Amino acid sequence: MLKLFDGKKVLVTGHTGFKGSWLVAWLRQLGAKVVGIALDPPSKPSHFEAASLGTSIEDNRLDIRNRDSLKACIDNAAPDFLFHLAAQPLVRRSYADPAETYETNVIGTLNVLEALRGLDKSCVAVFITSDKCYDNIEWVWGYRETDALGGPDPYSASKGAAELVIRSYVKSFFPAASSKVRIGVGRAGNVIGGGDWADDRIVPDCVRAWSGGQAVALRNPQATRPWQHVLEPLSGYLTLAAALHERPELHGEPFNFGPPAHQNHTVLELVKGMSRHWDKVRWADISGTQTGPYESGLLKLNCDKALHQLRWQAIMNFEETVRMTAEWYRTFYEGHQDIGAVTRAQIERYTIAAASAGQAWAQ
Ligand SMILES: NC(=O)c1ccc[n+]([C@@H]2O[C@H](COP(=O)([O-])OP(=O)(O)OC[C@H]3O[C@@H](n4cnc5c(N)ncnc54)[C@H](O)[C@@H]3O)[C@@H](O)[C@H]2O)c1
Repeated sequence: MLKLFDGKKVLVTGHTGFKGSWLVAWLRQLGAKVVGIALDPPSKPSHFEAASLGTSIEDNRLDIRNRDSLKACIDNAAPDFLFHLAAQPLVRRSYADPAETYETNVIGTLNVLEALRGLDKSCVAVFITSDKCYDNIEWVWGYRETDALGGPDPYSASKGAAELVIRSYVKSFFPAASSKVRIGVGRAGNVIGGGDWADDRIVPDCVRAWSGGQAVALRNPQATRPWQHVLEPLSGYLTLAAALHERPELHGEPFNFGPPAHQNHTVLELVKGMSRHWDKVRWADISGTQTGPYESGLLKLNCDKALHQLRWQAIMNFEETVRMTAEWYRTFYEGHQDIGAVTRAQIERYTIAAASAGQAWAQ
């Protein structure tokens, strides 16, 4: 199914970031011609630079809040597919700078839609929002695509607001019967994997401490999250784009991409799991000693719609997710191997595992 991307022009916003850089690596392996639009990598080190991903793509650095330059760049690229990932993705930073978060996540999304509105060719566009786009009423059930949008913190609200803008553009400017542009939305969260060095995320916090020979201080070791490897939602976004290309009835539809409902584990289990694959792993429990802004409790996604309409399902268990993540960072810090080759090998391994698990996209 993903053979479709071979030779296609694919535009990725946020290509210098964690998820965007993995998507670029995967699309290049599939034979796509990739055009990136983003600011400079959000961290040092970064997966994008470490894996030298800029060498085989058109690497544009521009701010998606600048509507005119964004439109010119998308017009010029004339993409067959577009994946919109560029965002301010951090909850804590959204409290520190709410205006930047709303401008990037809502107006940035609006600007991508405006560019698509003026595009004179057919294009499939997948917008990446978040599991946090849902109004988290802290119930035990997984959220479904029809549940209410919302979110108390500026980041979550900005993702819910971006969804409303997308929905309105689909209804107002991209009529299902005749639109050259087909749009899908991917919602996922709690993504881990090699190459993330963002602030205030558990795995990057760990890796920063361990690479300097320190123990990581765990603020909330018993917090439970439905962790998933970055390749899982990316396979969902790619599957959604390929399905949209073939099936007009999917136009405008949002999809959740997450692990099975039972796959929730604590921060402590995550760190202990990593210690089995990296001898530098140490931790200290500092729960109760720090306070911070409100962060929502467990939020699970119900992914039945992706299973029934896209035949997509997450395939990696928690142990494999943790192992791939720890191995990537250990190899990076050992410094003996080309890390781009490690990324490519992990994508291949994941694809083979998905094919044996019977995933339609991997056949
Ligand atoms: N990582 C996660 O766990 C997670 C969970 C849910 C949703 N998401 C969503 O996935 C997407 C990617 O997240 P990530 O973790 O890779 O983030 P990241 O911070 O690693 O990357 C963000 C990317 O967006 C670009 N960017 C930021 N502001 C920009 C601007 N004004 N103009 C142009 N480019 C800009 C950055 O340059 C970078 O390439 C985001 O939309 C995020 O909200 C991520």
